[in-house]
Amino acid sequence: MNLNTEQIVAGVQDIVEDSKDRSDALQRISELLKEEVPHYDWVGFYLVEDGRLKLGPFVGDDTEHTDIDFGEGICGQAAEREENFVVPDVSEEDNYLSCSPRVRSEIVVPIYSGKEVVGELDIDSHTRDTFTERDEKMLGEICEILGEVI
Ligand code: SME
Repeated sequence: MNLNTEQIVAGVQDIVEDSKDRSDALQRISELLKEEVPHYDWVGFYLVEDGRLKLGPFVGDDTEHTDIDFGEGICGQAAEREENFVVPDVSEEDNYLSCSPRVRSEIVVPIYSGKEVVGELDIDSHTRDTFTERDEKMLGEICEILGEVI
């Protein structure tokens, strides 16, 4: 049985409190989300370093997109505009970086420290049009927790 959204957010809080460092926390959170939500097929973090997005801990297929400029792809646009991006069908997007041909939809939620974007939570699904406001709300709560610790 999968955890509900409140239990997942509580699980993230527990991980943040007892992980040994940031990388350990982000890896375990990626694993928790992928394990608990059936439509999450790739879950990972990009962290802002030297003005670019650097791939951090993730679970799922390897990706060649380890360094992304602001404005580039869905991740770069979310960082530049400081907005969540929900993409129901990635094949309809011009400014998109493909990590795997199996991906159909994507959600990206920025992580803020104060007003500044310091990273992002990026999730891909092999199912088209699968992300709802419930996902956006839960992932927003998780990113708020992380903004305090990243
Ligand atoms: N699809 C993203 C790139 C990251 S991979 O999906 C892991 C984008 O367009 O920015």
